[in-house]
Amino acid sequence: MVLSLRLLKACSRSDSKTPYAAALASFAVATLALLAAILLLQNDLGWGLPTVLILNPGPNLCTCQEAKAELPILESGVGVQTLASEVQKVHPALQPLLESPPWNSSLVIVPAVYHDWDAGWPEWTEEFAVHVYQRTNASAPNYCENRAFESAVYLKFIVDYYHNLPDLTAFVHSDPPSHRRDIFTWLRCLRPNSTYSALNVHWLNHWHVDRPLEILGKSKFPTGACQVPRIEACFRRFAAIFGKDLSAEPGGKVEPSFYASNQFVISRDVILRHPLRVYQEAYKLIGLEDRCVEGPIDPRENWALGKGNYCLQEPPREWLEEGFESKIVQAMTMEYLNHYVFEVEELDGKPYTDEHYCKQFLSSEQCPGSPCEQKARA
Ligand SMILES: *[C@@H]1O[C@H](CO)[C@@H](O)[C@H](O)[C@H]1NC(C)=O
Ligand SMILES: *[C@@H]1O[C@H](CO)[C@@H](O)[C@H](O)[C@H]1NC(C)=O
Ligand SMILES: *[C@@H]1O[C@H](CO)[C@@H](O)[C@H](O)[C@H]1NC(C)=O
Repeated sequence: MVLSLRLLKACSRSDSKTPYAAALASFAVATLALLAAILLLQNDLGWGLPTVLILNPGPNLCTCQEAKAELPILESGVGVQTLASEVQKVHPALQPLLESPPWNSSLVIVPAVYHDWDAGWPEWTEEFAVHVYQRTNASAPNYCENRAFESAVYLKFIVDYYHNLPDLTAFVHSDPPSHRRDIFTWLRCLRPNSTYSALNVHWLNHWHVDRPLEILGKSKFPTGACQVPRIEACFRRFAAIFGKDLSAEPGGKVEPSFYASNQFVISRDVILRHPLRVYQEAYKLIGLEDRCVEGPIDPRENWALGKGNYCLQEPPREWLEEGFESKIVQAMTMEYLNHYVFEVEELDGKPYTDEHYCKQFLSSEQCPGSPCEQKARA
């Protein structure tokens, strides 16, 4: 789709000839913005709009002197955000389009922050373009539900900015160096044509879905093992949203290999391999739903239940109360599978080689400390 849209910046009352003219102009601009946003949204939903759409309301809407900026919109919602203040009532689904800021950096870092930065933003945020969601006040701006650890934030960002993604997005935790101490050097060394890379070197080989339970939940929740079939079922639901079947034969064992910690950099092109509605559905499952999988599970479609001798029980009350449902089930699902659903690696991926690092990151001569050099990955 190519959507080209010229809109006049809204007049403020003081630089308009009359309040009436300002009101009229505001109304017209708001109407056009809303129309444009609806058209953009419809196109996402695949309602068969024409692929090329030129909307040009002409130059005479408003009488103010300065506000004649033209806002070209190419395949994105860029520019519509300028008009957000003019649109009083907007369907919530359109809101992200109207608020999307234009990025002033080709790399944007999206950290998952809860209360971690209450005492102040860390110093590194001064160097990089950063987009932060808050997770504590649903009525304040930039809110993301506090579910599924970082996974909800990552998917929400993709959903919110699908039409306006930066060239590269680094999805990270609130304290990124705690997993990779020189992660910021790595980010400085990214090639402009980078596509995808994990930002951590801790390789997990053939991890079955029960492994994190051992770490996170089993001792605390003696019936943790009875959640394993549901975790596997959540993996399958999530993968299915991306059109993928996790095992060669129905109900086969699912053991992804991947880099731990769910911190990675990804290009716009890779994200755009899937349509927005796929991410909306994924975000709903991971970030919005109370439970990923409820009710009975068909043992023919589930290794843990059919052949793995895991029990299936409703989660204990404390499990739900302490948010373990989304922290373990939903968060883990994205952590284990993101490399796979973005179609950058096989489910059972291979550890990165020099070739991978030197494709994604500049050489160490060009950028000292780049992981293209093996010793920088030690
Ligand atoms: C991006 O813009 C903001 C304010 O508009 C500025 O504070 C920040 O330094 C800019 N970042 C980069 C990387 O240019
Ligand atoms: C949440 O945000 C709203 C809107 O900004 C504000 O009025 C309210 O005081 C905030 N609530 C808390 C508990 O901070
Ligand atoms: C980026 O371009 C360089 C050449 O300029 C190439 O060596 C590298 O493989 C490319 N990276 C990717 C991910 O395509």
